[in-house]
Amino acid sequence: SLIGLFLNDQDLKKKAKQYDEIAKDVKLAAVLGAGIMGGGIAYQSASKGTPILMKDIREEGIQMGLAEASKLLGGRVAKGRMTPAKMAEALTAIRPTMSYGDFGAVDIVVEAVVENPKVKQIVLAEVEGVVKEDAILASNTSTISINLLAKALKRPENFVGMHFFNPVHMMPLVEVIRGEKSSDVAVATTVAYAKKMGKTPVVVNDCPGFLVNRVLFPYFGGFSKLLGFGVDFVRIDKVMEKFGWPMGPAYLSDVVGVDTGHHGRDVMAEGFPDRMAVEGRTAVDVMYEANRLGQKNGKGFYAYETDKRGKPKKVIDPQAYELLKSIVTEQREVTDEDIINFMMIPLCMETVRCLEDGIVDTAAEADMGLIYGIGFPPFRGGALRYIDTVGVAEFVALADKYAELGALYTPTAKLREMAASGQKFFG
Ligand SMILES: NC(=O)c1ccc[n+]([C@@H]2O[C@H](COP(=O)([O-])OP(=O)(O)OC[C@H]3O[C@@H](n4cnc5c(N)ncnc54)[C@H](O)[C@@H]3O)[C@@H](O)[C@H]2O)c1
Repeated sequence: SLIGLFLNDQDLKKKAKQYDEIAKDVKLAAVLGAGIMGGGIAYQSASKGTPILMKDIREEGIQMGLAEASKLLGGRVAKGRMTPAKMAEALTAIRPTMSYGDFGAVDIVVEAVVENPKVKQIVLAEVEGVVKEDAILASNTSTISINLLAKALKRPENFVGMHFFNPVHMMPLVEVIRGEKSSDVAVATTVAYAKKMGKTPVVVNDCPGFLVNRVLFPYFGGFSKLLGFGVDFVRIDKVMEKFGWPMGPAYLSDVVGVDTGHHGRDVMAEGFPDRMAVEGRTAVDVMYEANRLGQKNGKGFYAYETDKRGKPKKVIDPQAYELLKSIVTEQREVTDEDIINFMMIPLCMETVRCLEDGIVDTAAEADMGLIYGIGFPPFRGGALRYIDTVGVAEFVALADKYAELGALYTPTAKLREMAASGQKFFG
């Protein structure tokens, strides 16, 4: 699997290089919104040598964005990875502003304002009116359709999605989303800018959740089913971490934010009701309604205390167990292997659908998206490599064993054909 990853990575680099031929130079960038994401994007751009304007409508937003950037840069200086002079250079490369004054010189704008389609459409149309004709506009939305946002624009060909992951400086993936009207130049310029920021871009087509979240939510769907059968979430976390995930699903939910997960789940349910519709109240609803939003407010599936170094430390909270009792529909005994299959089959099956639907061009790109975007266990190579390793026919048979769990577990007709004819995703 690791050799496969290396080869996939080479493929990805080759592909990104092809975009270089038509990409336009980005000498000056801008980010709209100086929040968690905007601040991270400004830091990443500036520290990799592309000056960036950082616009917000609130002074305290700007102060927070700048504070985040100086904290990250200061951390690099403290570790000896950056000189103080370079730090000063990077900080001056972030130009905070509350107006569109200098936007006429900008080559690319990354929009990272609040996740609201109406606000985003207004902000995008506004900025389109002040940038030069050929400037690229890119939205960092995680759930809103790029085609929908494009409707607010006069030049939708210059618009794409540029989906960073949180925390921006740590997460290697950037999904570049090609809308129906996005031009090749817009895609290529965004790919090139992502690379210049030290990120690995994967180009995907527009659909709810794009590639990474579309695949991640079915995995959480499996988690939800396990909780409905009364399985202990701490045990599930342990099993999935042993399988190779950097953190189990309950902990991941807390780190990402239960509210973010709750919203994303609803978007996905609307986008793919045949298999992602929400059946009854789930654990995420229970946590959300009890205002247990995860690490951000100190309580989610776990409770959080501060350790000696000031970092959040998770502890078991009996209250969470109490709350979860209300969503148990039936007590079932499951094996550790069941736990893995409950969650991995939907994730893998949705990756297959993304490839079949042309959301992503190749199996290599799909797998790399998951490795870089959600920390899929590298030694397992990615969802499609994992199916190959299990064996396509064996995987289909395994999925059929869990058929009673619903449509997320149903193999596609094409996967059945592959199983019957002995085909694989790789080689
Ligand atoms: N936080 C995440 O984990 C994450 C991950 C990937 C993508 N995203 C997406 O990134 C975007 C921003 O998310 P965030 O978590 O950084 O939000 P946030 O609330 O931390 O920051 C949003 C910022 O936008 C500012 N803002 C609002 N209207 C504005 C306007 N008209 N012009 C300029 N600034 C404006 C706000 O003042 C605020 O500072 C959202 O679309 C979100 O879905 C977030």
